[in-house]
Order: sequence, then structure tokens, then C-alpha cells
Amino acid sequence: MLRARDVTLSYGGEPVLEGAGVELDAGQFVSLVGPSGSGKSSLLRAVMGLQDISAGTIETPGLARDEIGILFQDDALLPWRSAVDNVALGLRQRGASRAQAREEAEGWLERLKLAGLGGRYPRELSGGQRKRVALAQVLALRPRLLLMDEPFASLDAIVRARVTQDVVNLVESEGIGVLLVTHDLEEAIALSDKIYLLSNGPRARVSHEYPVPLPRPRALIAARTHPKFAPLYGRLWNDLSEAVEGPQPAREAA
Ligand SMILES: Nc1ncnc2c1ncn2[C@@H]1O[C@H](COP(=O)(O)OP(=O)(O)O)[C@@H](O)[C@H]1O
Ligand SMILES: [Mg+2]
Repeated sequence: MLRARDVTLSYGGEPVLEGAGVELDAGQFVSLVGPSGSGKSSLLRAVMGLQDISAGTIETPGLARDEIGILFQDDALLPWRSAVDNVALGLRQRGASRAQAREEAEGWLERLKLAGLGGRYPRELSGGQRKRVALAQVLALRPRLLLMDEPFASLDAIVRARVTQDVVNLVESEGIGVLLVTHDLEEAIALSDKIYLLSNGPRARVSHEYPVPLPRPRALIAARTHPKFAPLYGRLWNDLSEAVEGPQPAREAA
């Protein structure tokens, strides 16, 4: 569903990525982690077609442009439109009648546990609720591939756990492929089928790839206590630390 190979990308001659690649099959949840500034967001924007690459290929076989959805850290809700109108907007732009768009939007708000809040304006909603509206807005357009750039970073731990669990349930039931950029290793493991680690920039590439051996359907809290969670966390932590600080000298025996 997504094949990015040997991607090289720079800003005004300043190299960011060199030879980076990621692959994602239909219905897979894939996370991209890496040091800050390594080029995670840049790679995601390139996949979205918002950023030129200077070498390599990015293919989304079998996917139409409008089957790719994207969710950024800062939601893009229009402050002068109610929640339901924000969700309905994209549906209207795709040709749905006013009544039909509204009905579908209400349905998505309900699925995201916002029933009864459709009439509120974004400023009248909590951070978690706004994130849910933004998700409803994206999911209402029925993406088959969803790109997310640290979308949950601004939420507190409990709200974040609830929203991410709902996202997992929805993408599992809808069979949506997801590419998530996050700097949270626990979140990456709990959510993903596969994790890519970008090396430190400039000229970052994918230095490691980890399959996540946890069962689906996934209950995120249970995933964190699964016996395979901690060993993978340890490997990721070490590899990320090395990416940031370079190889660590072996400790001398006492
Ligand atoms: N629009 C831009 N113009 C110039 N440099 C940029 C731009 N966007 C990002 N960069 C630089 O590219 C590098 C990678 O940025 P980014 O993709 O945002 O990294 P990450 O998401 O991994 O933190 C950083 O050094 C950043 O300063
Ligand atoms: Mg980023």
C-alpha cells in the first residue's frame, strides 16, 4: 500500500534524509521513531506529496490520492464551525448533500464518543474532544491509509490512552493502514505491527526495523504488560540512544 525507497530529501541544499525507506501493507500499523530533527515529519510530508524528494521513489500502489488521510499534532478545525459542521465539511466537498453529510458526520462523532457534542464549537471542547473531532473529520472521508504526525502529543496520559485505544479499535475494524510518527517508544510498541527507527541526521536513513510480536486485536494497557513488550522496549531504547549519542563504550568489569 505504501513503498518509499531510497528517499533523499534536503532543504535548500541542507541534507535531511539520505536513502530512507519504509513499507506498509494494507491494514498494517507502522510507526516511525527517531531522534528529534532526523526527518520523520519530512518523510511523512513527502509521502503525502507535500514535500519534494531529490532521489528515491514513493509509491502508493492501488491507492487514490483521496484515500490518504492525514492528522497532524495541531488539529485543523475551523473555529467558526461547530464540531458536526467541521466533520461534515469534507463530506460536502466530496459531493454529499447537506443532510447526508450531517447524518454521516453525526455517526462519526458518535463512534468517537462525542454523541451530543456536535453543536459545540472547537473552543467549547477539551483537548481530547477536539482530537476526536479531528479524527472523525479524517475518518469520515474513509481513508485506506492514514498518516499521523505526533497527533496525541498534546494530550495528557489518561486521555491519550483512551483516544489511542479508540483509534486502534477503529483502524482494526476498518482495516486502515497507518503510518504514525511518534517519539514515544511505548506508544509505538503498543500500537504497531512494525516500527522503523531513523538514524540521527543529517543524512538520516532507516537504521533498524522491528516487527512487533504482540497479538491483535490489541488492548493497549494489556500490551504494555505482555512478556514481549519489555525486551523490545529495551532494544529500541538502546538503538535510539546510540543513534543520538553514538555507540556507548562497554563498561569495565568491576
Ligand atoms: N521547511 C523547512 N525548511 C528548512 N529546514 C527544515 C524544514 N522543515 C524541517 N527542516 C529541518 O529538517 C530537519 C528534519 O526536520 P523534521 O522532519 O521536522 O524532523 P523530525 O520530525 O524528525 O523532528 C531538521 O533539521 C529541521 O530543522
Ligand atoms: Mg516532527
